[in-house]
Amino acid sequence: MTVKTNSLSAELFLQLYTSVGWEPPGIEQIEKALMNTVATFTAYDHDTPVGMVRLIGDGGMSFYIKDFAVIPAYQSKGAGTLLLNALEDYIKENIAPDWAVSLELISSKEAVGFYQKHGFEERPCDWDGPGMFKMIRGGSYEIQKLQQ
Ligand SMILES: CC(C)(COP(=O)(O)OP(=O)(O)OC[C@H]1O[C@@H](n2cnc3c(N)ncnc32)[C@H](O)[C@@H]1OP(=O)(O)O)[C@@H](O)C(=O)NCCC(=O)NCCS
Repeated sequence: MTVKTNSLSAELFLQLYTSVGWEPPGIEQIEKALMNTVATFTAYDHDTPVGMVRLIGDGGMSFYIKDFAVIPAYQSKGAGTLLLNALEDYIKENIAPDWAVSLELISSKEAVGFYQKHGFEERPCDWDGPGMFKMIRGGSYEIQKLQQ
């Protein structure tokens, strides 16, 4: 298996995203998100794309993992680990050697064990509260959804 950096198209994103059962946004929203992404990583078995992960962040202090998905037939075969290693190597290569930066995410219920194996700490903990989350919807979001 190999990992390609910054080669993920919106169409392939959509394919990999829906393969794990997630409800996707529209293609324009995906294109905008990819345009503003720090880096994408796509895993291939020969020519077959089998997984992806997206790195977003400010390049200085904070990075965030988004849309980590390995297609069901390839899960638990090492693709996720390859992708995560590529993402962490990318950060190390793109920050000053004397910097430390945070790498954060909200895990799916199923992936908690995977992230723990790779050194991520759970929140809340003794000194920190839980991660928090809110969806913000555009002014005509409900109308657009009704029309679809
Ligand atoms: C989570 C995910 C990205 C991991 O990718 P993967 O290719 O399956 O992971 P790997 O094969 O590299 O697994 C590495 C290790 O984690 C373990 N692991 C994998 N998935 C796990 C899970 N759901 N729970 C606990 N451990 C898990 C594997 O057993 C393996 O351990 P080992 O090397 O000791 O055998 C993938 O399973 C996936 O796409 N899941 C569905 C979508 C999802 O939940 N994504 C996370 C969004 S936050």
